[in-house]
Amino acid sequence: MSSSVSAPNSTTRSATGARNAVVLGLQWGDEGKGKVIDLLAAQTQVVVRCQGGANAGHTVVVNGKKSVLHLLPSGILHDGARCIIGNGVVVDPLALCAELDELIAGGYDPSSRLMVSDRAHLVLPCHKALDAAFENKKGDAKVGTTLRGIGPCYADKVARTGLRCSELRDLPMFEKKLRALLIQVNEYLVHLGAAALDLDAAAKQIMPACTRIAKFVADTASFLHEAAAANQCFLFEGAQGVLLDIDYGTYPFVTSSNTGVGGIIAGSGLSHKQLGDIIGVVKAYSTRVGSGPFPVELANSKGDDIRKRGGEFGATTGRPRRCGWLDLVAVRFSCRLNGVDAIALTKLDILDTEASIPVCVAYELDGKRIDTIPARIDDLAKVKPIYETLPGWQRPISAIRTYADLPPAAKSYIAYIEKHIGVPVRWIGTGPGREEIVIR
Ligand code: IMP
Repeated sequence: MSSSVSAPNSTTRSATGARNAVVLGLQWGDEGKGKVIDLLAAQTQVVVRCQGGANAGHTVVVNGKKSVLHLLPSGILHDGARCIIGNGVVVDPLALCAELDELIAGGYDPSSRLMVSDRAHLVLPCHKALDAAFENKKGDAKVGTTLRGIGPCYADKVARTGLRCSELRDLPMFEKKLRALLIQVNEYLVHLGAAALDLDAAAKQIMPACTRIAKFVADTASFLHEAAAANQCFLFEGAQGVLLDIDYGTYPFVTSSNTGVGGIIAGSGLSHKQLGDIIGVVKAYSTRVGSGPFPVELANSKGDDIRKRGGEFGATTGRPRRCGWLDLVAVRFSCRLNGVDAIALTKLDILDTEASIPVCVAYELDGKRIDTIPARIDDLAKVKPIYETLPGWQRPISAIRTYADLPPAAKSYIAYIEKHIGVPVRWIGTGPGREEIVIR
């Protein structure tokens, strides 16, 4: 096994005694799910990704080398784990091959443990071209997507015009269908003022990767049901965060999938009975990449300071993340929607130097206090955060390994969060390293 983390003892695995667990981001993505997944995956036999695509970026360390996984489940770094890319994921063959190649170049080949759902949709060159064309057309109103073709691929899925991985079982027929789709998309591209794709060049670019990933394509839902019947232990990896959910996020500045438990069920083929614990990952402050209202944003030197200390630059696109104080309105909203059992609070150490720490406990909208996220984006853009200010601890916590040793002000910060959202904090991230975690 290439993972350098020591296997957690049995008490680290479960919040409620359940065998399985779901890990979800409860903010706008980038909560530090990779590290939590990595910790929990050590005791897992099957790791499943259920939604999103190569827009995700989970940072992990393999043989001392930092890697960013986009499509592969982070649990792939644990030798024992079978890794499933479920039907709800949109699979970019080029991105998947590049990721595998990077791991193989680092001396680690996980291919034998990987399966890709035959019902997962394929992200094709036309989807990436459309993503860019739509964003250009929107001008200032652009979503700020990762340009990975995610939205156009999900749009094709819903419009019933997409191509699924099962098509890769007959590659000559797949290429015919690919060319037909490209002809159709070229009409939109031209209409949007973008260049049409060269059919031969696009096919030449994508076919080798499609041929390579065809061998991973399988009926993953049946595999998962058999594994469940054999009492295997599952970990479901959420991607992005609940505030980017297509239904409950800050629409239209969202991604194009359900990023909560709904996406886990629809995107894996298992039922709600197999989910187990719902573990919500919350960063000790807030960040967001891309456009859209962000009530707690600190568009000032304090925001710059947090970005610098927290290394808040996109793992997928390298874009600087917008930073702000912890938004408990948002976190409570996400907890309620997903029946969260326990919280992993990450990057608490980034607040070490603060003398006092504001947390947003409600919003003011048109002179009224509200405690939930309004559906209308123009209302969300208008809300003003209402803060309570808590004392900081002003000392480094990265070397601390037990809850009892945390400074009293850090414990009060955690207790305040728990009281406000009604969910216990069970893991506390105190630094970037795998061992820098406090487990309660
Ligand atoms: P898309 O998912 O590429 O369509 O991008 C839609 C929005 O979701 C943009 O604001 C992106 O920045 C954001 N987004 C997508 N994936 C992630 C992620 O993994 N972390 C943080 N933001 C993301």
